[in-house]
Amino acid sequence: MMDITRIQKDMPLLEHYIYLNTAAASAMPQPVVDVMTSYLQKQASIGPYLPSFRQETYEQVEHIREKSALFIGAKKEEIAFVPNGSMGINYIAGGFQWQQGDEVIVLDTEMLSNYVPWLALERQGVRLKVLPTDTEYMVDLQELEQLITPQTRLIAFAHMSNAAGALQPAQEICQLAQKHHVHTLINANQTVGLTPIDVRKLGCDFLVACGRKWLRGPEGSGILYVRQALLPTITPIMIGWGSTTWHYQQNDYSFSATAKRFEPGCPVIPSILGLGAAIDYANQIGIDHIYQRVQQLTKYLIKQLETIPGLVLYGPQNIANRLSITPFTIEGVSPEELTNYLAAHGVIIEAGTFMANTIMERNAIQQMARFSPHYFNTCEEIERAVSSIKKFIKGAR
Ligand SMILES: Cc1ncc(COP(=O)(O)O)c(C=O)c1O
Repeated sequence: MMDITRIQKDMPLLEHYIYLNTAAASAMPQPVVDVMTSYLQKQASIGPYLPSFRQETYEQVEHIREKSALFIGAKKEEIAFVPNGSMGINYIAGGFQWQQGDEVIVLDTEMLSNYVPWLALERQGVRLKVLPTDTEYMVDLQELEQLITPQTRLIAFAHMSNAAGALQPAQEICQLAQKHHVHTLINANQTVGLTPIDVRKLGCDFLVACGRKWLRGPEGSGILYVRQALLPTITPIMIGWGSTTWHYQQNDYSFSATAKRFEPGCPVIPSILGLGAAIDYANQIGIDHIYQRVQQLTKYLIKQLETIPGLVLYGPQNIANRLSITPFTIEGVSPEELTNYLAAHGVIIEAGTFMANTIMERNAIQQMARFSPHYFNTCEEIERAVSSIKKFIKGAR
């Protein structure tokens, strides 16, 4: 059983707000904030480079690398710290050994960060192919198989879309890719910390995730997983002391054999420490419990939203295909005005295109509003949010 009272005690923001926007960035639990502030405080009093302190800090960073690896079923050597998901995607897009005519497949539900880096490769002769998802926003494996050709090198897909909330069958996609000797990159920005993830079971080659969303870590934290055997094949797009050995006498250099090859300079230490504390926090609750609770909250949220007249729900209709992220519009209501009204009444959700413009186009809308509850939310909070929406509509109509 999850101790919600204790979990909520770790969230000072709850004194003022109901927070239902983890898909953008979550609220950090107090222990995550404490780890970072105590590091910064110590730095302020003894400086960052007292030898014993610096050594202890770097040891902690390596310990957190191991912890991050364990959290997704990887090896420590396969994990690089990155400041956000986009950077992880760029390391793969920019470092892969592309050849003229190679193909990359993405889904038609991607947000900018998992579309434009591949589009940019077209200038190098790489072809970007977009797989239309089905009416449920899900990948149809047969359609995907038909899109694969001998030139296909990579399938890069969001495990869960930030604007449709469709949870893709990642393992099946990776299996299909393997059958055709195609590599896979899972953009797990919307799932690490929300669903159990095991890169070996999934069978992916690359995985990226930021720490600030479902893991409830700080901004500026994230991980890039690269399967060990592929590490030498990805040439880092940046070079610096953290990732490289300088063979000064030969006027040459070499990259680290581990994923540290993607960490050119000084690590973003406060964020990495916060990420470590966030993983500890998630582990204490248990990722299975987190997943199950969010499944229940999603069901409850949808039931509640369905009581709002004129509400249109986007994303999969089959609840089994969706998790947390619940986009909607209400006839005659501006999503932005609604969101501002809710914020003024203590409820945080978000409105926008979510930089997933294809989803707006598919539904012929300019914007949508989006709920994204996490395990710390409650049915009562959802009821209060929905009742605020009803009040707003009454005033607006
Ligand atoms: C599905 C998805 N992919 C990629 C990104 C970009 O991630 P980041 O801001 O960590 O670079 C986001 C962030 O909102 C996202 O939701």
